[in-house]
Amino acid sequence: MTRFIAVVLALFASSTVLSQSLSVKSTDSRYLLKVEVTPAGILQYSLSFLGKQVVQPSALGFDLEKPKTKLNRFKLESVDSSYINQNWAPIWGEYATIKNEYKELVLHVKQTTNPAIQVAVRFRLFKDGLGFRYEFPSQTNLSHFVVKEENTQIVVGKNHTAFWIPGDYDTNEYLYNTTKLSEVHALAAAKKEKDIAVTSLVSDQTVQTPLLLKSADGLYISIHEAALRNYPAWLLNLNKANFSFESTLVPDAVGNKAYLQTPANTPWRTILVSNKATEILASTTILNLNEPTAFENTSFIKPQKFAGMWWEMHVGKANWPLAGGKHGANTENVKKYIDFAAAHKLDGVLVEGWNQGWEDWFGNWKENVFDFVSPYPDYDIQYLTKYAQSKGVRLIMHHETSGAVTNYERRMDTAYRFMNLNGINTVKTGYVGKIIPRGEHHDGQWMVNHYERVAAKAGTYGIMVDAHESVHPTGLHRTFPNWMANEAARGTEFNNAPTLGITPEHTTIIPFTRLMGGPMDFTPGMFHMKLNQFDPSRKTVIRTTLAKQLAFYITIYSPLQMVSDLPENYEGKMDAFQFIEDVPVDWADTKILAAEPGDYLAIARKDKKSEDWYLGAVTDENKRALALSLNFLSPGKKYEAIIYADADNADFEKNPEAYKISKQMVQSTDQLSFQLARSGGVAVRFRLMD
Ligand code: NOJ
Ligand code: CA
Repeated sequence: MTRFIAVVLALFASSTVLSQSLSVKSTDSRYLLKVEVTPAGILQYSLSFLGKQVVQPSALGFDLEKPKTKLNRFKLESVDSSYINQNWAPIWGEYATIKNEYKELVLHVKQTTNPAIQVAVRFRLFKDGLGFRYEFPSQTNLSHFVVKEENTQIVVGKNHTAFWIPGDYDTNEYLYNTTKLSEVHALAAAKKEKDIAVTSLVSDQTVQTPLLLKSADGLYISIHEAALRNYPAWLLNLNKANFSFESTLVPDAVGNKAYLQTPANTPWRTILVSNKATEILASTTILNLNEPTAFENTSFIKPQKFAGMWWEMHVGKANWPLAGGKHGANTENVKKYIDFAAAHKLDGVLVEGWNQGWEDWFGNWKENVFDFVSPYPDYDIQYLTKYAQSKGVRLIMHHETSGAVTNYERRMDTAYRFMNLNGINTVKTGYVGKIIPRGEHHDGQWMVNHYERVAAKAGTYGIMVDAHESVHPTGLHRTFPNWMANEAARGTEFNNAPTLGITPEHTTIIPFTRLMGGPMDFTPGMFHMKLNQFDPSRKTVIRTTLAKQLAFYITIYSPLQMVSDLPENYEGKMDAFQFIEDVPVDWADTKILAAEPGDYLAIARKDKKSEDWYLGAVTDENKRALALSLNFLSPGKKYEAIIYADADNADFEKNPEAYKISKQMVQSTDQLSFQLARSGGVAVRFRLMD
């Protein structure tokens, strides 16, 4: 760690008080952060990018419930600064190495009224983003304390275009809205959404993060949080009078926000800015703000592709409960999935509905519905484990808690031991419904700690985790690299929803919003787009082309990618399925080639285990021509490009399953032109020729 001297400390003398201001530039000089304690004692910061003010002076502070006091008038006590420049290697991800370079500024301040509580605010300025957090050091005036509200302002000051979902304490499974800030109406937007299990909406002017803004002069601003631990998720209250946001935290069952003990800190508040949309997608600030892993053994962690006894239930071919005569998770059926996975080199098979309790799982808010160790009598888990092993495949466990989370906590050790005994090393968890018995919220401090306890405990059993209905991710997969993915947004299963479903543009927005925090179990790979196969009354359809489904394996990054459709729906299209069979789930490098939120994106990634590159591009409801330079390929080398494209007559409404496959030799000096159909896409494998 080296100290840097770029900090300018200016003391502006007035007759009675001093205003103290500091500023720091990012190493490439594009970002300028200013921090000051005003003569009135207000601690505020502002942020500029390429000479344009992106965040106007915005105040920082807290309301405490216990001790009952406000932290909003400060005196600057001291300042620390440092410069860090290092590289680190994630266990898996989009890059083999990540550069962690930032300038740090820590302001130690003290409340000027009684009690004189000490707080520090730590700012880290990267080349691709800003992070700051509050720290409460050990002190005689503060040991155990209760937070009533965090009062962090982000005054953007202009009526930007916003990509937002309604503020909600319990769910993030909304469609994104694209409106001017002046047109944000969260309650009205949420009213259109009739297919979400549990909602706790906040107000008409409250939105969730990750939030993306775009200014009229072409700046992209992404607001989120990093390293959300032992603290509730934050939401942002919009004030339309001056286009400012103020934080509001998800409460607990009795209305408090956070229970902390010094020394304590908040998550990092992150603001990423760029004049290029591609740079927002390439930012590693959020990961860099998370702690390195403390896991000594990470050898059990393996990115994987998996099939699943899952879509059958969602499209009505089968059902979760044994009762009713449509039980999908029976030994014979699961054997077929194991055979399918083995034939196509998939690592795992997820099985839902394997355990007793599904007759009573939803809507009754009961504590002991599931014990996570009792299979239905028609499901021979020992036999299937051995059968899977003999084929080089592993079963993936499903733990639907039905919101009874204390029940799950009591049974977790037994459940993970049961997985160990059966050679199962991945669990998909789920939190459908109200969190009982206390009525905590999905995104409150108690549940945030629960998700972390699951990741930590699963790690001690050598188990990887994929959490559904969880809080928005904040880069914690760096610290818990067995926490492979989360749902935490609207994924494929919403194609079944009779009202809004998934719009063509949704998948051009989530990389800029939800995915900023970490991988999503979106469950791509749908080849059969009409969802009335087993229930003729269904009107729902998947609103993408088949090539777009292939492209998702690149544009929606996850180390845990589902091959989601029914095996029989891939039959007859195995030439297109070849891309799914080939595509890796762990990458040495990533290049964002082209992107515009809500419209399109194109990403190239290099396989970690070979010299091959892969490319995926998707478009919204408009057809689009994309010409992409191949300058990411190694110069002087020849590659065979296998191109999985929309057929000439493909169209998400009229002809979604039409595709064409072509091959051509290419090198790094070439450019490829693609025609994407309406809600279409393209997927390419670049195979190095030797
Ligand atoms: C919701 C999950 O997102 C989905 O994938 C799962 O099948 C159901 N809950 C049942 O647990
Ligand atoms: Ca879900």
